[in-house]
Amino acid sequence: MSQVVDIMIREHALIKRWLQILTKAIVRVRTTQSIDPMMFDIFVDFFESYVDRTHHDKEERIFFAELQKKQISPEHKEVMDRLITEHVQARETVGKIVLKKNEYIQKNGESINELLKYMEFFAELYPEHIHVEDDKFFVEAINYFTPEEVAAMEAQFAQTQPEMAMEKYIAIVESLEAQFK
Ligand SMILES: [Fe+2]
Ligand SMILES: [Fe+2]
Repeated sequence: MSQVVDIMIREHALIKRWLQILTKAIVRVRTTQSIDPMMFDIFVDFFESYVDRTHHDKEERIFFAELQKKQISPEHKEVMDRLITEHVQARETVGKIVLKKNEYIQKNGESINELLKYMEFFAELYPEHIHVEDDKFFVEAINYFTPEEVAAMEAQFAQTQPEMAMEKYIAIVESLEAQFK
């Protein structure tokens, strides 16, 4: 498989572990009717810095942007547009989660159901998004590119992917996992 697809799928693997934590966090928030603000901030920071700025950046600024220069099938165009819309939805939802978390802290627990609603929405939206990318879209869409074009994207990916940053994100997920056994 191409390095480009491989890297995006490898990033999904870490995001899937983070989604498992989200599922457990939903249960914990629902049963305790409370949140741990510090852990919450670490959790949200992973979305902003890794899922959005690292991963979505590769997809949108490099892979999807290059695809947009190609004559892709209407079906692939439709899937790509939906994936891009879902990135927007994911960002908006996390924004609402942060807003509700802040309200929860300020108002002493009033906003917990709204908070849960957005966490649940995200937990439904995102695994399916990854599934479409991993099992269908990436492996098909990569065929629109010549080996030279794939190599050029790989080079762009390499610039956005310092190995040390990756290690930091793995450590963050591991520490969250330890708290959600
Ligand atoms: Fe995506
Ligand atoms: Fe993705």
